[in-house]
Amino acid sequence: MSAKDFLEALRWRYATKLFDATRPIPADVLAQIVEATRLSPSSVNLQPYRLMLLTERDRIDALIPATWLPNRPKLQSCAALAVLTVPTDLGDHTVEAFLDQVAAHKGIPRESLAEVEAKAKGFLMAMTPEARIEWARRQAFLALGTLLSACAAARVDSCPMEGFVAENYDRALGLPEQRMTTAVLVALGYRDADDPAAAIPKYRRTITAEPSGS
Ligand SMILES: Cc1cc2nc3c(=O)[nH]c(=O)nc-3n(C[C@H](O)[C@H](O)[C@H](O)COP(=O)(O)O)c2cc1C
Repeated sequence: MSAKDFLEALRWRYATKLFDATRPIPADVLAQIVEATRLSPSSVNLQPYRLMLLTERDRIDALIPATWLPNRPKLQSCAALAVLTVPTDLGDHTVEAFLDQVAAHKGIPRESLAEVEAKAKGFLMAMTPEARIEWARRQAFLALGTLLSACAAARVDSCPMEGFVAENYDRALGLPEQRMTTAVLVALGYRDADDPAAAIPKYRRTITAEPSGS
């Protein structure tokens, strides 16, 4: 995709308020969006988030009561709901589990990662437990940006949402048992012909940065 096509995709996308409830997203397109999200970069490459992609109508419906009122029509009409979650117990064990996987993936001795391990643990432990969750959220939000861009590239409509009750989502999704919490949601689908938001012109502030030397 050229930079020009990418810009066109970003101009095409908007936070969709109402989806065409009769149109599912083809499985291969959903798989591409998930793969793009998986490729998102993260600090120390720890990827401290998980992506749940719900496509079953009853599972999405079960979350409607935990969603703020203005966002409910999005859940009622979307084809899929992406839920980005973050761990609430980031610590040494996170780094250890991650490096076990890296060593296995690369086929290298686990001991060769001792220095990286010490640095990553030091990095995490320098933060309070609350700051660690916030750090994980920042990484999840970067993945959110990648996900939204991938949707636009695939001409799949989306609406990112922070309007939900996290505790109730966590409970409904069984996250406390996994020591995870909900960070952000994205409703996915295809815009409904009656979505009034589609006609609202996009507003963005004028960017102030200029290439240096210009
Ligand atoms: C992190 C985040 C949370 C958002 N939460 C909501 C939400 O709960 N409900 C909603 O309708 N829109 C939500 N939005 C959409 C924004 O309002 C929208 O992206 C912004 O107004 C720009 O409009 P555009 O995306 O249509 O260009 C959210 C966007 C982001 C990035």
